[in-house]
Amino acid sequence: MSLKDKKAIVTGAGQGIGRSIALKLAQEGADVVIAELNPDTGAQTAKEVETLGRKAFFISVDVTDQMQVQAMVDQVLKAWKRIDILVNNAGFDRPGALLKVKEEDWNAVLGVHLKGTLNCVQAVAPHMIENGYGKIINTSSVWGKSGAVSEISYSTAKAGMIGLTKSLARELGRYQINVNVILPGLILTPTIATMAEKYQNMIIENTPLKRMGKPEEVANVVAFLASDEASFVTGAMVEVSGGWNM
Ligand SMILES: NC(=O)c1ccc[n+]([C@@H]2O[C@H](COP(=O)([O-])OP(=O)(O)OC[C@H]3O[C@@H](n4cnc5c(N)ncnc54)[C@H](O)[C@@H]3O)[C@@H](O)[C@H]2O)c1
Repeated sequence: MSLKDKKAIVTGAGQGIGRSIALKLAQEGADVVIAELNPDTGAQTAKEVETLGRKAFFISVDVTDQMQVQAMVDQVLKAWKRIDILVNNAGFDRPGALLKVKEEDWNAVLGVHLKGTLNCVQAVAPHMIENGYGKIINTSSVWGKSGAVSEISYSTAKAGMIGLTKSLARELGRYQINVNVILPGLILTPTIATMAEKYQNMIIENTPLKRMGKPEEVANVVAFLASDEASFVTGAMVEVSGGWNM
């Protein structure tokens, strides 16, 4: 197991990609904090991690709230003494074309991705710096690279995740902290399952692998980036998209 006894925090791990990441990290030997807004799904993922024989810690947290995030990190360090891995996965989309973008949606989407990630990194970084070790994996989207029609807030936030990742990689590299960002394509999660089939098919048609991805296929890449197998990879944008928008 490549992550034996590592301590990880995964945000938004109640369902979808985050849940799969939590389970994969546990399969690879890590103990996992499920940092999730939804208490039902968060507790459920924590149970599944325990079933895999690893320790799990469900903490109900809104990543956009700096005080809640700091309290979570303090609680984890008190209990587990270390944090080796931080996966910033929590997020959501509020589609909207330029002339229809509402201020509250813009703030919410930029908030959950950019402020949420910044809050988590600011809370965890002092500890990782002291340890001279850390793996941070952020979540963008292929739309963060390409932009997308009627996805003004989301594409902007996801592009910001790339800039944030590269700046963090530059600042934290000297402490042997690796910071990378994944760019998923269309991945079949509970949220994507509600997308109209017409749009799903449009994307699949433009995806060289001609299918949606599975959350496990994203989790495999995250587990690699979280491991010492990827020790010389930092500031990288890793597309997990079946080739869509390459
Ligand atoms: N599924 C895709 O096709 C796809 C494609 C590209 C990027 N992504 C990105 O991958 C990540 C996961 O996507 P998903 O499809 O699994 O999403 P999802 O909606 O299925 O799950 C997201 C989880 O994040 C949690 N969450 C939302 N706001 C939160 C907050 N403020 N604090 C803590 N938790 C919060 C939700 O409760 C939910 O459990 C997101 O960042 C998303 O933008 C997904």
